[in-house]
Amino acid sequence: MSEHWTPASWRAKPAQHIPTDYPDPSALAMVEDTLRAMPPLVFAGEARRLKSLLGDVAAGKAFLLQGGDCAESFKEFHADNIRDTFRLILQMAVVLTFAGGKPVVKVGRMAGQFAKPRSSATETINGVTLPSYRGDIINGMEFTPQARTPDPNRLLQAYAQSSATLNLLRAFAGGGYADLYNIHRWTLGFVNDSPQGARYRELSEKISEALTFMAAIGVTPETQPDLHRVEFFTSHEALLLGFEEAMTRVDSTSGEWYDTSAHLVWIGERTRQLDGAHVEYCRGVKNPIGLKCGPTMEPDDLLRLVDALNPKNEPGRLTLYGRFGHDKIADRLPRLMRATKAGGRSVVWATDPMHGNTLTAANGYKTRPFDRILSEVKSFIEVAKAEGVHPGGVHLEMTGKNVTECLGGARALTEGDLADRYHTHCDPRLNGEQALELAFLVAEKLKDERIEAARRAAG
Ligand code: PEP
Ligand code: CO
Repeated sequence: MSEHWTPASWRAKPAQHIPTDYPDPSALAMVEDTLRAMPPLVFAGEARRLKSLLGDVAAGKAFLLQGGDCAESFKEFHADNIRDTFRLILQMAVVLTFAGGKPVVKVGRMAGQFAKPRSSATETINGVTLPSYRGDIINGMEFTPQARTPDPNRLLQAYAQSSATLNLLRAFAGGGYADLYNIHRWTLGFVNDSPQGARYRELSEKISEALTFMAAIGVTPETQPDLHRVEFFTSHEALLLGFEEAMTRVDSTSGEWYDTSAHLVWIGERTRQLDGAHVEYCRGVKNPIGLKCGPTMEPDDLLRLVDALNPKNEPGRLTLYGRFGHDKIADRLPRLMRATKAGGRSVVWATDPMHGNTLTAANGYKTRPFDRILSEVKSFIEVAKAEGVHPGGVHLEMTGKNVTECLGGARALTEGDLADRYHTHCDPRLNGEQALELAFLVAEKLKDERIEAARRAAG
């Protein structure tokens, strides 16, 4: 790997999943120039703050909760959707914090998650073959030659939507909505009358009691302004590197390069080639970086990638997301955890239980069985425990909307239910109730861990 890095040095490397069929490359270059002159979406100082919080996760002192749409879309862009996902993350974080007794670092797959790697470059319907849909930042989902042609103006629309989304998220996080005293009001409508809703209400009762007690001893929002707000961060896959490059700026405080399109960006399972464009781009920006680790990754590959992306072994710089599948994790994860642990590499180990558990139902819907997702999360925590590694977090595709995309859960969604509200622009997401159920399960596991740790410490 050459030492010299620039925001554009990825262009000399082999690049997977970046479209090369823009009809007018000069129009794309002009759009990228326009983006270069736009304000950054996030500040370097915020990315450093997230890195420091992830350093706490790497040290076993905190937990990462990352989630949101598989793909954001122009069509589903609405304040209610942003609020619902944000609120779901808050609810899940409360559940996890209360049980685990550790701070939860909250990161949305939001405000920039627009580009998708696809397993096939083309799609054929009734004998007609067209380029695959690659996410709204690249082309349109409609099955017409026009929609499927990459359009550079989509980069500008994605920037505008990310900026408006981030603006609302910042308002929610700091403007009173996330006030812990509002905990009862965060309940999602349709979750209200469900078993998870009842559990959530019970838990928020306990927290309200604790808040009343704290107020009585003088800890109030006036003395502790943090009770009024949360820290919330954004993330997406760094896939469309022309966009990321255009958003890359030198931070005036440190003189270092940051990708100002999100606080954290990750490298996907399909673009993690050591000598490829995506690793090249990500190694040079100082943001916290994520890396997906699938079933074909070997310990040596992983160590080489870890060293390329985090040569100074800085805690919080690198988060690894295992995404193996419920039936493969027990075989694949232990050796990878052993490699980073034995090699003294400071990383966050998290689980993405979504991408290894996708299947096509008999009626043609792409779906994910909830029990397999839960099973991968449970295995993740068990393997981590056996390897003496902190199970640092979860990365989920989910929405606060009452969709029917993943099978099972408390309401036992069946294949026949999928058609009711199948709205995703890419992969199937957990709905609010399923996501909350998963949070309660992880919380129980974290609670066991906390109790055991306390017992060990006591003697
Ligand atoms: C994703 O996170 O949407 C994704 C495509 O994941 P992976 O790279 O792990 O398949
Ligand atoms: Co996905």
